Amino acid sequence: MQSVFMKKMLGVAMILGAGFSAQYSFAQSANCSYSISNEWSTGATGAITITNTSTAAINGWTIGWQYNTNRITSSWNTNLSGSNPYTATNIGWNGTIQPGQSVSFGFQVDKRGGSAERPAITGSICGGVTSSSSVASSTAVSSAAVSSIRSSSSIAVSSNVNSSLASSVVSGQQCNWYGALYPVCVTNQSGWGWESNKSCIARATCASQPAPYGVVGANSSLTSSIASSAVSSVASSRIASSVISSIASSVVASSIASSIISSSVPSSVASSSIASSHSSSSVTSSVSGLSLKALADFPIGVAVRAGSEANSILASSQQKSVLFQHFDQLTAENIMKMSYIHPSETTFSFANADALVDFARQNGVSVHAHALIWHEDYQVPSFMKNYSGDFPAMLKTHVQTVASHFSGKVVSWDVVNEAIAENSDTSAVNGFRNSVFYQKMGVSFIDQAFIWANEADPVADLYYNDFNTETNDAKTTRMLNLVDGLKTRGVPIDGVGFQMHVLPDWPSIANIEASFRAVAQRGLKVKITELDVRVNNKYNSSAPVYTSLTAAAAATQSERYRQIVAAYLRAVPAAQRGGITVWGMWDAQSWFAQDPDWPLLFDNNFQAKPALQGFANGLSGQ
Ligand code: G3I
Repeated sequence: MQSVFMKKMLGVAMILGAGFSAQYSFAQSANCSYSISNEWSTGATGAITITNTSTAAINGWTIGWQYNTNRITSSWNTNLSGSNPYTATNIGWNGTIQPGQSVSFGFQVDKRGGSAERPAITGSICGGVTSSSSVASSTAVSSAAVSSIRSSSSIAVSSNVNSSLASSVVSGQQCNWYGALYPVCVTNQSGWGWESNKSCIARATCASQPAPYGVVGANSSLTSSIASSAVSSVASSRIASSVISSIASSVVASSIASSIISSSVPSSVASSSIASSHSSSSVTSSVSGLSLKALADFPIGVAVRAGSEANSILASSQQKSVLFQHFDQLTAENIMKMSYIHPSETTFSFANADALVDFARQNGVSVHAHALIWHEDYQVPSFMKNYSGDFPAMLKTHVQTVASHFSGKVVSWDVVNEAIAENSDTSAVNGFRNSVFYQKMGVSFIDQAFIWANEADPVADLYYNDFNTETNDAKTTRMLNLVDGLKTRGVPIDGVGFQMHVLPDWPSIANIEASFRAVAQRGLKVKITELDVRVNNKYNSSAPVYTSLTAAAAATQSERYRQIVAAYLRAVPAAQRGGITVWGMWDAQSWFAQDPDWPLLFDNNFQAKPALQGFANGLSGQ
């Protein structure tokens, strides 16, 4: 089995290999860059990012551009006027750009038979000079190519000397650190992110961040004092967890963030489909300055639908906008499960899952895959339920065909999902679910699944995943006994996934933390794989009943998100954090939407709920 370190390094290489967007600044007060985030046969989505490279705040902005063939069909987070050429101005909350900060807005174009264009951006804040282009996200760039691009600097990096002197800043190059530009160190090659009051970011550390971030060419007239000023005025946006508490307040406590939150409550669940005429200005989650992934040094994921599924992210610019702002990992909510991907013994249906994985790779987003084996009756293909041949051989073929298909393209797998019996399960056998897998193979189906998966994909992290194991009760104990047995038997397990479909008042934070800690103490990774927080507890007759998301319910939910994230950070050492994934992007997507409930971070207009702020506060130690 590969070491965790090797897996991590290969995982980083995979992400870097998936997509790269280079930005080059020629602006006087701002760098205005045009990037393409996704492209398909008839259209594309993209973003224009304005980064303030001056020492003074920009208050209000207007920029323009013109296509040869493409035409805009929708936009968000801007007031757009014109019909080619186009003019974009700020809306209320994104008009002020502090030194070093960035603002982005998004759009979709009809390519009208042409290719996705990358027009020049004009406007006085861009110095009146045209700006950047980006490598189309749909173009696969090999990791070798990325590394070659990134190592093409003419600056010699001499040694790994710890120095925080401003003189160590490389003139002419900068680090795009999650939307903010910082100096690149001369003497320090690795190890420094934006932390510990350093005056620069180590070159290799910067270069290893996912696209579109990393070392960027910069206006050579941009002095280090300007860069330093930008740095000091912008709180860190991506840092080691050990120093999270020292930063971010200026990011998330901004009036921008406040206005997002206050404008998003209450929401109501009206439909599980997304209105195609969705108002562009309501996608407030794309605001610069609040980004979950920027506050974490581990993956922040979201479960989505894709391919031919209803509400596919591939066809939703709103979902993409939220994804790119807040998340750096995807999980297929359904389409990598057994029944979807292996419907008959000789048929594997990879098309939908491939579309999702390709989309993720093209956009520098990693994939946590779910799930190789799951007992749930309607997710077990009929041929498996009735299999009369060599069951272990058949299951091995399933696991290895699927795992090898995605080998090198996903960073981790839920290998076995929900094999431990519930406390109330009267048909349990030795504490396990009486599934077809257990009936045929006993607990060896779990051992073998990990062994087979590891043979097919020796790089991906392999997780055992379950629900109600964060309870610190008898089910948690059964799960710990299982992983202890797996480790004793030398089975290649890397971590435990806690689904975390939790109630507003259950389990207690103390029990959640203790459950995380028990796994971490065994040296395994801990991943929250399916987080959602309901506002109703229908199992508790004395709990309040919400028929809409009231401000009070939203506030309680926000605090619950904060406490869960904080517990995760307290209990799990940085090197063992597999990440946190929320089980859906917006409330109507949730499997609890019909209850009704509102368990996710965004409402049905993709506006951030207070839950998002709670999650962010948990990450930043507030
Ligand atoms: O998309 C089809 C639609 O075309 C069709 O008309 C409709 C008719 O039933 O079905 C739709 O598919 C449904 C799909 O969700 C999308 O809504 C499936 O029937 C339904 O079974 C599926 O439910 C999923 C469930 O797992 C079973 O696979 C939920 O979305 C998904 O959130 C849930 O996820 C599970 C995790 O995998 C494991 N942990 C628990 C979690 C919640 O149950």
